[in-house]
Amino acid sequence: MHDFLPITLNSLKADTRIGCDIYLLVRNNGNSRYILYCKNDAAFDNEQKEMLVRKNINKLFIGKKDQQKYSEYLESNLKNILSDDKIESKEKAQIVYGTATNMLRDVFNEPRFKNFERSKTFAYNMVDYILRDGKAAFNLLKITSHDYYTYTHSVNVATIGSLFAKNIGLGEKDMKTFCTGMLLHDLGKTKIHSDILNKKGALTDDEFKEMRKHPEMGVAVLRESGDSFNDEYSIILQHHENCDGSGYPFGLKKEEIHYSSRIVRIIDTYDALTTQRSYSVPQKPYNSLKVIRDEMYNAVDHTMLKSFIKFLGGHGSS
Ligand SMILES: [Fe+2]
Repeated sequence: MHDFLPITLNSLKADTRIGCDIYLLVRNNGNSRYILYCKNDAAFDNEQKEMLVRKNINKLFIGKKDQQKYSEYLESNLKNILSDDKIESKEKAQIVYGTATNMLRDVFNEPRFKNFERSKTFAYNMVDYILRDGKAAFNLLKITSHDYYTYTHSVNVATIGSLFAKNIGLGEKDMKTFCTGMLLHDLGKTKIHSDILNKKGALTDDEFKEMRKHPEMGVAVLRESGDSFNDEYSIILQHHENCDGSGYPFGLKKEEIHYSSRIVRIIDTYDALTTQRSYSVPQKPYNSLKVIRDEMYNAVDHTMLKSFIKFLGGHGSS
């Protein structure tokens, strides 16, 4: 029973190759068994889809081992899924979040051109969903994970950040750039030794010096891959700069810092505080905002912080 995972028929587009076996759960005389409905190398044709629609079957199954392949299928089909009116916003949010997590895991394991382009395509699709679906914020905020990995943290920052960007009226083009930058903001951590990244407790001066290189390293990794970004570079480079000049790598002050980076500075900290890490207990949203207001008041942009608190309050998170 536990070797199979449920998926929905809605997520499968007719006449496409899914890339993994699809099963139906059949119950007979009190017994349940999974039967193969579409083989991995065969196209899932329209006739097969229509038959299930007629029988009102929306729940299908894949083998647990094929989770990655299914996620790649969803990613390649994301534009269609997100523009399909028959799929509920809640399911779209789950697909968006799951696809982002899978995609970013690949980005951090293999930081190269092909995967950076995937981030960009994904960000564009996610922003389209956020802009067109009134329930996106409610559904996405509900599922942001509190496990801590660099990639889940990056998905959270990009998700919360994009929703906030819509809330403060950022235009579509800027939102797409902003979302891509947020997905990749900690990319430079792929160049930091795992002993430092995973260390429990405070870093030594030398370790902190090394850690502080990650914004510049992130930009270097992207440039070396041949990818050409614009404002995304500012987000990656400046996301640890503080308004009072106490941040890194350059010690820039308020107006010298790109407005997107000033937003990321707040959301990056907020998500880190609300997330379960090996060495700290996750804070409640309200407490996290209080920590930022009380302990980082001079470091953050006050107007942005006020708007962010208002935004979270409006979604029942504070
Ligand atoms: Fe960072």
